[in-house]
Amino acid sequence: MVHVDGKRKLTGHLLDLPRFIHFLLRFTQSGNAIFNYHVTRYLNSMRYKSNAFRIIESLLRKDRVVVRSKRVSVFKKPSRWFTSKSSPWNKYDPSPTGQPRIFYLDEANRATLYKWMDKYETTAKYNVAETCCASISFNDLRELSEDKSDPLDLSIKLTYGAIRGSERLRGNLARLYSDQTPLPSDNVLITAGAIQANFLLLYTLVGSGDHVICHYPTYQQLYSVPESLGAEVSLWKAKEADNWRLDINELKSLIRPNTKMIILNNPQNPTGAVIPQETLKEIVEIARSSSIIVHADEVYRPLYHSVGEGQAPPSLLSLGYEHTVVTGSMSKAYSLAGLRVGWIASRDRSIIEACASARDYTTISVGQLDDAIASYALAPACEPNLLKRNLDLARRNLAILEKFIESHRWACDWVKPRAGTTAFVRFNNQGHPVDDVAFCEQLQAKIGVMFVPGSSCFGEGEDYEGYVRIGYVCETEVLEQAMEALRSFMDGEYRNVPVRSRS
Ligand SMILES: Cc1ncc(COP(=O)(O)O)c(C=O)c1O
Repeated sequence: MVHVDGKRKLTGHLLDLPRFIHFLLRFTQSGNAIFNYHVTRYLNSMRYKSNAFRIIESLLRKDRVVVRSKRVSVFKKPSRWFTSKSSPWNKYDPSPTGQPRIFYLDEANRATLYKWMDKYETTAKYNVAETCCASISFNDLRELSEDKSDPLDLSIKLTYGAIRGSERLRGNLARLYSDQTPLPSDNVLITAGAIQANFLLLYTLVGSGDHVICHYPTYQQLYSVPESLGAEVSLWKAKEADNWRLDINELKSLIRPNTKMIILNNPQNPTGAVIPQETLKEIVEIARSSSIIVHADEVYRPLYHSVGEGQAPPSLLSLGYEHTVVTGSMSKAYSLAGLRVGWIASRDRSIIEACASARDYTTISVGQLDDAIASYALAPACEPNLLKRNLDLARRNLAILEKFIESHRWACDWVKPRAGTTAFVRFNNQGHPVDDVAFCEQLQAKIGVMFVPGSSCFGEGEDYEGYVRIGYVCETEVLEQAMEALRSFMDGEYRNVPVRSRS
C-alpha cells in the first residue's frame, strides 16, 4: 500500500513534522473522509523519512491511510451507502480493491484557471479570457425567440420543482441528442452547470484502482478530479504539429486492463480543435472492445463555426455505443452561464441512475426559474436563432483575431480554432517562448487586457510555455479594443517581456 514514487516532481508545501502529525491524527480521530496533504518533499527528506513512515505505517494498520505517489490520504471505512448490494453504484463499482472513494482538497490542488480568473476578472478592462459566447439578458433571449410568450409564470409556487429537471427541459435536450437515434428524456439529468455534471459523473464512476485516459490539453477538472479520487490518469496528448489531432495508436498503447474511462473534450478548450467523426468512431470501437466508458465534455457543442459543410461531428451519443456519456450546459454556445444549468446525458440509463444517486447528496434540484428559462432557450422556437447569433459572432470575432495574428507572425503563431470560443496562441520573443504568466500579468497591469496563461492553467506548469488562451467570442467591440491595445503593446513594451529561463 505504501508507494513513494521518487520520479514525480516535488510539489506542494514543505510540512513540518508536528503539523503533519497534528493533521493526520485530527482527521483520523474525527473519521473525516477528506484529508490530503502534499508530502513528497516531506517523505523525500532524509530528516523526516523514518518518522513519517512510522506514523503512516501505524495508521495503515488501522486501515485508514493510503500513500500514493505524492499524497497521503486519510479516510474512514466505506459506509453502507457505498457498498449496499441494491445500490446502482454496484454496476460501476469504482473501487475493485474495496477502498473507499476519497477526495483530496487543499489550496495546492485548487484549479489554477479559477485562481487566475478570481484574481483578475473583476479588474480587467478588456476581458478576453472568458469562454462563454457574449452573455445575453432575458430580454435579449426573448428578442431572439419566435415564441413571444412569457417563459416565466410568476404565479407559480417556488417549490423545489422537478428533482431531475423539468420534463420540458429534459425533453428539449433529448430532442437535441436524437438526430440519429432517439434519446429518452429519462436519459438526461439536469445539474448546476457542466462543472457539476463532470464532477458528479467522475465522482460516481471513478475511484482508486481505476485507470482513466484523458484528452490533453483540456479543462483541468477533467483529469484533476479523477486523480483526486484516487484513479491513475494517463494524458492523451493532442499533437499541435498535426493541428491538435489525436493519435489513435497512442490511445491503444495507453489502454490497461483497469482502464475505466476515456475522457474527451469536443470541441476542445483551450485549442478550439475538433475531434472529427472518424476519430470518434475509432475511439468508440477501441472502447467497445474492452467495455470502457467514453465520456465527452461537449460544453462547447454545437458551436462548430469554422468546419467545412457537413464536417461538424455528431455528439458522442450518436455513435451507437451504449457506454457513452456526455456533459453540456447553457453557458458557452447558449450564452446563459448565469442560469447555472448543465446536464449529463447518456445512452446507458444505469449511468444516469448512478449519477442521480450521488446527485441526491449534493443537489436537490436546480432552480425552477433557471430551468424555465433554459427550457425556453432550448425550445425549437429559440435554440436555432440563439445558436445562429453565436455562430455569426464567433466567425466575425475570429476574423478579427486572425488579422491580429497574421500581422504579428514575428511574435505569435497558432492553429486556427475550428469550433468553441477559445484560441491557444503561442507567443515568442526573439525565438524563445515568452514567460506566459509574466506576459499575461503585464498585459493586465499595463493595458487592462485579460488573457489566460497556458503553462500554469493548461500545462501543469510544465507544458505549453509561451501559450495564452484567448476567449474571443466576447462582445465584438471588447475584442476590437483589446486587439488595439495589444497592438500598441506589441510595438513597444513587448520586447521587454521575459522569456522562459529553461529555453
Ligand atoms: C470544458 C469545460 N467544461 C466545463 C466547464 C464548466 O462550465 P459550466 O459549469 O459553466 O457549464 C467549462 C468552463 O469553462 C469548460 O471549459
